[in-house]
Amino acid sequence: MTLSFPATRLRRTRTHEWSRRLHRETVLTPADLIWPMFVIEGEREEQPVGSLPGVSRWSVDLLLDRVGEAIELGIPCVSLFPNTPAERRSDAAEEAWNPDNLICRAVRAIRDRFGDGIGVMCDVALDPYTSHGHDGLLDDAGYVTNDATLDALVKQSLNQAAAGADVIAPSDMMDGRVAAIRQALEGEGYVNVQIMSYAAKYASAFYGPFRDAVGSGDRLKGDKRTYQLDAGNSDEAMREIALDIAEGADSVMVKPGLAYLDIIRMARDRFDVPIFAYQVSGEYALLEAGVAAGVGEREPLVMEKLMAFKRAGCAGILTYYAPYAARLLAG
Ligand code: PBG
Repeated sequence: MTLSFPATRLRRTRTHEWSRRLHRETVLTPADLIWPMFVIEGEREEQPVGSLPGVSRWSVDLLLDRVGEAIELGIPCVSLFPNTPAERRSDAAEEAWNPDNLICRAVRAIRDRFGDGIGVMCDVALDPYTSHGHDGLLDDAGYVTNDATLDALVKQSLNQAAAGADVIAPSDMMDGRVAAIRQALEGEGYVNVQIMSYAAKYASAFYGPFRDAVGSGDRLKGDKRTYQLDAGNSDEAMREIALDIAEGADSVMVKPGLAYLDIIRMARDRFDVPIFAYQVSGEYALLEAGVAAGVGEREPLVMEKLMAFKRAGCAGILTYYAPYAARLLAG
């Protein structure tokens, strides 16, 4: 018998909004979002980041208001990045393990005000503290040394854990950092402090506005290609992720997000570990530039991209759109 109609009408379930909602395979909720925030010295100080429209650096007192907002919106975790004053940056990055540094004061203030009402994640890498803007320590030839940097990252991590950080997020891409940090945390009794490793972090052109926000961009000599992944590689990204899991990472990150959705999907299919994506500063800035240029409306553009991360297999997304998206999702 020849059919006089299409045997399968996939459009049938798309006919009504209730049905589209019922059949949606992937959902986005505020609980999927981590809000990255920039911190500066001072009081009642808000500095808009020129290259990231709508994003500001906040002094600790104002940061607390933003964290309160995150809690109201149902955002489970914030990620903190300091803009360290120039006089506190050095070649050896000692400020990274100063117990009174800006990040530690911010973490303690959040803890004091909100208890464990929200997760606090801290980046581990030396770039906010080095005079040269690299994530690690340089040798005489200007190469970012691995093993000497590990000692510094361990000190930085313990300092943040002591201040009350819940999640240590190494973004430096040194070999062996997750094992070194995990061992040190266990040794000091921080058994429940999580490690979310930036496992597949690419040497990317999309980090420019972030470097501007933390004040490392103008300082940076050269690039980060001797430690961050090459954009052409995916097998190597899987090796990085496998190693970080073996070394004790609780969750892993792929970064940037949109240009690396294939990496997220590959990792999701291979590893039973929560995977996060970082929708980085350049992705945000490009989208905002597109909206300003009249390419389309912000809401559908932003939500489609965030959905793509979830569909690719992410447990959650670090995004500067976290408050914007959470507000929309709340209806
Ligand atoms: C620091 C770090 C970077 C980002 C997060 N942590 C920049 C870099 O590696 O140069 C980028 C985040 C963004 O662009 O939003 N190592």
